[in-house]
Amino acid sequence: MIEPVYSPLASRYDAMEYRRCGRSGIRIPVLSLGFWHNFGSHKPMQEVKAMAHHAFDKGICHFDLANNYGPEYGTAEENFGRLMDCSFRPYRDELFISSKAGWDMWPGPYGNWGSRKYLMASLDQSLRRMKLDYVDIFYSHRWDPETPIEETMQALVDIVRQGKALYVGLSRYPADKAREAFKYLKEHDVPCLLYQDRYNIIDRAPECHGLIDLSKENGSGFISFSPLQQGLLTGRYLNGIPADSRMARGTSLREDVLTPAMLGALKGLNKVAEGRGQSLAQMALSWLLNDSRVTSVIIGASSVAQIEDDLKALDNHSFSAEETRLIEELSAPVQLKEVK
Ligand SMILES: NC(=O)c1ccc[n+]([C@@H]2O[C@H](COP(=O)([O-])OP(=O)(O)OC[C@H]3O[C@@H](n4cnc5c(N)ncnc54)[C@H](OP(=O)(O)O)[C@@H]3O)[C@@H](O)[C@H]2O)c1
Repeated sequence: MIEPVYSPLASRYDAMEYRRCGRSGIRIPVLSLGFWHNFGSHKPMQEVKAMAHHAFDKGICHFDLANNYGPEYGTAEENFGRLMDCSFRPYRDELFISSKAGWDMWPGPYGNWGSRKYLMASLDQSLRRMKLDYVDIFYSHRWDPETPIEETMQALVDIVRQGKALYVGLSRYPADKAREAFKYLKEHDVPCLLYQDRYNIIDRAPECHGLIDLSKENGSGFISFSPLQQGLLTGRYLNGIPADSRMARGTSLREDVLTPAMLGALKGLNKVAEGRGQSLAQMALSWLLNDSRVTSVIIGASSVAQIEDDLKALDNHSFSAEETRLIEELSAPVQLKEVK
């Protein structure tokens, strides 16, 4: 059977909200889609396509990738290249696409961390896999304690000068290093567009370390990853561990986080969500969107139905004082305040 050519919905920008990234000309959707877990070689291309098409049809025009997303490493970017060929090429200028380097990618001394050699080579590889001439934003994926920060930052600056990325971002930098990096980038006329960190009802580390305010003070947007704490902040684990869940796959979400205290907190939070007429996932996303310092949240999803459920968070992202109080009280025993 010949597949029909993808044609995005004409209404795609009608219901989405777009927020400005710090002091920049760029606005991105408040919900972005991440390709970390469910877009690699183990996922049938039909499902990858269905999720990406659905997201774009609903105004999610920011896709977040990295060199090692898969599994297998690189295969999420390869599948993104296939999406470019079969669907998105005519819409390239409507898309905001990221990639990153900083974690392990290939063996030997040049396939990890923050050297100029690694960042430059990795971006070239990412562009080839994604079949792109440039990415919209390229991130240093984590701070490297052994490479001088000037080397990593100058590589980012030069990547922009080479036209391989339009903007740059930082992810998972300790606050003092983020401050240095923001300063270096600003002084070299390539200001940081987005600072990316894990932030959600349970993981409060970036708030505690002042990174959200620091991003704002430095003219950078703040984008939250794992807004659902990898699926914990959804209905997924309230009644056991489903066989098709991330926790059951045992990759990045371990069973031992589901302690009695965690389960108690999740059940309580779910009641608050029900009272708001929301799913727990929707309330967790709404909680982030209620904070105007948060530019966007990057959701992961394993199905179109999850993306659809998550999109409904946009319908109500304000909270009464009582709802806020309950969320704080219920989440307090399981809140994480240190970087993990
Ligand atoms: N910069 C970094 O270091 C870094 C690190 C991690 C992630 N990220 C980025 O952030 C993105 C998102 O991370 P994440 O995947 O951990 O995000 P997440 O949104 O916290 O978790 C996604 C998972 O939650 C479950 N889920 C989502 N919506 C649901 C719903 N409505 N109902 C029930 N379950 C639902 C699904 O789990 P199941 O798979 O079990 O169905 C899904 O795979 C990544 O793709 C990546 O782009 C960046």
